[in-house]
Amino acid sequence: MTDTHTPYPPELMRDVAKRRTFAIISHPDAGKTTLTEKLLLFGGAIQLAGTVKARKSARHATSDWMEVEKQRGISVTSSVMQFDYQGHTINLLDTPGHEDFSEDTYRVLTAVDAAVMVIDAAKGVEAQTIKLLDVCRLRDTPIITFVNKLDREVREPFDLLAEIEDVLKIQCAPVTWPLGMGKAFRGVYHLQEDRVLRFTAGEEKRSEAEVIKGIANAQLDALFPMEIGQLREDVELIQGASNPFMLGEFLAGKQTPVFFGSGINNFGVQEILQALIDWAPPPQARDAGSRMVQPAEEKFSGFVFKIQANMDPKHRDRIAFFRICSGRYSSGMKVRHVRAGREMKLANALTFMANERVLKDDGVAGDIIGIHNHGQLQIGDTLTEGEALGFKGIPYFSPELFRAARLRDPLKSKQLQKGLQELGEEGAIQVFELEGGNMLLGAVGVLQFEVVAQRLKDEYKVDAIFESADIHTARWLTFPDELTRRNFEREQAHRMGKDVDGNPVYLASSRYNLEVTMEKWPKVGFHATREHG
Ligand code: G4P
Repeated sequence: MTDTHTPYPPELMRDVAKRRTFAIISHPDAGKTTLTEKLLLFGGAIQLAGTVKARKSARHATSDWMEVEKQRGISVTSSVMQFDYQGHTINLLDTPGHEDFSEDTYRVLTAVDAAVMVIDAAKGVEAQTIKLLDVCRLRDTPIITFVNKLDREVREPFDLLAEIEDVLKIQCAPVTWPLGMGKAFRGVYHLQEDRVLRFTAGEEKRSEAEVIKGIANAQLDALFPMEIGQLREDVELIQGASNPFMLGEFLAGKQTPVFFGSGINNFGVQEILQALIDWAPPPQARDAGSRMVQPAEEKFSGFVFKIQANMDPKHRDRIAFFRICSGRYSSGMKVRHVRAGREMKLANALTFMANERVLKDDGVAGDIIGIHNHGQLQIGDTLTEGEALGFKGIPYFSPELFRAARLRDPLKSKQLQKGLQELGEEGAIQVFELEGGNMLLGAVGVLQFEVVAQRLKDEYKVDAIFESADIHTARWLTFPDELTRRNFEREQAHRMGKDVDGNPVYLASSRYNLEVTMEKWPKVGFHATREHG
């Protein structure tokens, strides 16, 4: 039923409802690149298998940062892939893989409305999956699970589901179930539709899988005499013991629908696309501090979730990746940069299409645009059509690696400070100022240090060495009152620092040190994450 009193433009409501914005999360090698490629293939956005894969190998062919730099043009365009599927517009946001893994990955997840989690069926839940799912949980992002590589010798499906539930603390609702595995992988049974989709190996096939209706169908006994008995047993068990899919639970991030398949063989991929369209949410209302912003509001708004230095670092040209939260983007529009209190013209923003032949220059909530700028935009910045909003929820995470910056040429200390301040603001690395003015760098991924060292050299002409620092972890501090703050700062001065925005941080030398200090100061808040702004 449509609400005739709705204050929102109907056209905008219609366009927003068609958007699906998601990312794929997985441990390296589980099959994220393969699935990305197959989704684009089924979405009609690319014609040939191998396109995305080639980009990945180009990226991984070298660990040398200068080479990575050369690849940036490619990585900008592959950061967001937009394609149309069954009347919907799908935005697939790429999260960097493990070699260039950094805080970027976390922040990209704040800009999506759903995620597809890929699990390698031989390996189960792996370390990176746990981390990424924790980030999704900060916003209760709905998760669709794809258990991949069923064409290999893999673990028992019941075991895998139990592990997902135990380790990731999310309820599983199987939607498809494997019929055999490894060399005897015959297909999947769709629990809701009571039909078997027959597996055929092959990378290039794009036709629909053969369907056999009804689990009691005698055709199944004839075709799969060795495997069908097990499937019937399994299904009986599932129907008795496991959770049926419930849309509300999925949307609340509490339950994940689980699909089995083999990405490389194009099998199970269409079901994922269908689930994205049928179940994943369109863009939702977002908290902008003073109020919730509805996606179909007429006025444009959104936030920057990632910054990427562009191809020519000498000109300090950067692209800010901006998630639209409401209204409609049009080229040349004027917007307010809320933090800076200035007007800005969005003249040459990039819009993204997986199929690069199509040019587009509009966007609505859920879409991503890339804004060229020279450092005016930082992660977490909000742009609006006038209102002083401030979108929340883009996190800084406590770094896991620390290095002290030391100059080869001590006369360059001003440039070093300036460079680190700017790179810190951009979000390339976290920078803490210690007592006495020394700078400490914190990162989530080790490549971040390499990137920063290279950029300091290229863009600021500073040759810095990063030395290991005796720090285990950092915690942002909040104090109940001024007196506690002063007392704490006096006692702990040697373990204190300030982040780029001047917030006080406790730099613990060990887990033990952190625990002792927390016990001693029960009223002080020690926080492992902090929101921008
Ligand atoms: P990632 O992006 O998550 O790191 O994984 P990616 O898709 O690159 O896949 C990792 C490896 O797993 C690749 O093999 C890929 O071909 C393989 N793979 C992906 N899906 C399936 C599947 O359904 N079944 C099987 N058997 N293998 C799968 P590789 O040897 O590392 O690379 P390549 O030589 O195939 O390029």
